[in-house]
Amino acid sequence: MPDLFSPLKIGLLTTRNRVVMAPMTRCRAPAPVQSPGRINAEYYAQRSGDDGAGLIVSEATQVSPAGRGYPNTPGLHSEEQVAGWKLVTEAVHARGSLIFAQLWHVGRVSHEVYQPDGRAPMSSSPSAKSGECVLPDGTKAPYPTPRAMTVEDIREVTEQYRHAANNARAAGFDGVELHGANGYLPDQFTRDGVNRRTDQYGGSIENRIRFIFDLTRMLVDVWGADRVGVRLSPSGAFGDMIDSDPKATFGHLVQKYNQLPLAYLHIMEAMEGDIRRGKELVPGYEPIPVSHFRPLTRHTLITNAGFTFEKGQEYLHRGWADAIAFGIPFISNPDLTARFRAMASGTPVELAPGDPATFYWPGVGPMEVGYTSYPAMMRAETDVIHA
Ligand code: PHB
Repeated sequence: MPDLFSPLKIGLLTTRNRVVMAPMTRCRAPAPVQSPGRINAEYYAQRSGDDGAGLIVSEATQVSPAGRGYPNTPGLHSEEQVAGWKLVTEAVHARGSLIFAQLWHVGRVSHEVYQPDGRAPMSSSPSAKSGECVLPDGTKAPYPTPRAMTVEDIREVTEQYRHAANNARAAGFDGVELHGANGYLPDQFTRDGVNRRTDQYGGSIENRIRFIFDLTRMLVDVWGADRVGVRLSPSGAFGDMIDSDPKATFGHLVQKYNQLPLAYLHIMEAMEGDIRRGKELVPGYEPIPVSHFRPLTRHTLITNAGFTFEKGQEYLHRGWADAIAFGIPFISNPDLTARFRAMASGTPVELAPGDPATFYWPGVGPMEVGYTSYPAMMRAETDVIHA
C-alpha cells in the first residue's frame, strides 16, 4: 500500500512523494508586470525537494488580463511572465520536484476596473456574484452583473487558454492544471446555479460541461498525454456556487474525462465554509467524498481540503486517492514532508501555525513576511536550496 512517502508515476513523470502542494493565491506578483520573480522562486524552492512537495501546483495564474479579479495575482500571457515563471520552475527542478501551472480565468469574479476594455466581466450568464470585489487599489466594490459570453467570446477565451498553455511549456513547467473549481469561469458553465443558457452551452449536463471539456481537450492537444490535470470542487460553495444535482453533474464530467489521457483529476472535498455558516450546519447540504468518484475514473486522483497527516495516510491506505494536496500547512511549514516523516516515526511534531494576516499581500509588512520567512525546522542538512 502506498503512503505519503511513496513515489507516484504519472505517465513518464515520477513524483518523489505523494505530498502535493495545493494551488494557493498569495498575491505577490505586483503590477504592472504581474509576474513572479526571485522571491517567488525562493518561496516555491523552499517548499520542494526531499523535505517538501513531490508535485507543486502553482497558485492560480490568469490566462489573460481579463481573467483577473484580485490584486497582485500573476499571469502567464506575457513574455515577462514567462521569464518570471522560468525562475520558479528552474528553482523547483533544481530540488528535484515537479511543478504544474494552474491556468485560471475568474469570469464574473472580477470588476470593470480589471477589464482592459472597461466593460463588465464575462460569464456563462448575466448572474452577479454576491459580495465585494477587492480592486487593485485595495478598495472594494460590489461584483457587477457579468455579460453572457457569445460563442465568439468562448472561442477567444479558449485561444487565451491555448496561448497560456504554450507559455507554460516555454516557462519550463511539467504540465498544466485547468482550474475548474471554486466558482471561476469553467465552473460558472458547469453548475446550473449560475449557468442559465439556452444554447449548446446550457441546459443539460452534457451542454453545461461542454466548455470545460472542450478546454481540457484543447490543453491535451497542446501538452500531450499525462501532462494535463483538472481541479474540480463538486462539494464547494465558494464563489456562491450551487448545483441542483452535483453528484450527477460531476459524476458525468468525471466519467467523460475517461476519454482523455489526463495526468490526474484533483477533486476537492468539502471545506469547513461549505458545511457550516458560522456555527450552524447548512441545511440540506451533502458533501460528496472523493471516494464517490473513485470507481468512476481511470485517472490518478489527488484530493485536498483540510487534510492532516493522519487523514492523508488513511485516504491513501484505503485507496480513496493517490496523492494528497496540502494548502495552508505548506504556508508556514516549508519542510512539511520532513515533519510528516518525523510524525510517521512516532516523534511528536507540532505544525507551525500560519498567520492569515499575511496570506495575501499587501497584508502587513513587506512581501517576504509570511511568505519566505517561515523557517524549515526539520530540513535535512543535505537538502540544500539553490533558488
Ligand atoms: C482567492 O484568491 O481567494 C482564491 C483563488 C483561487 C481559488 C480560491 C480562492 O481557487
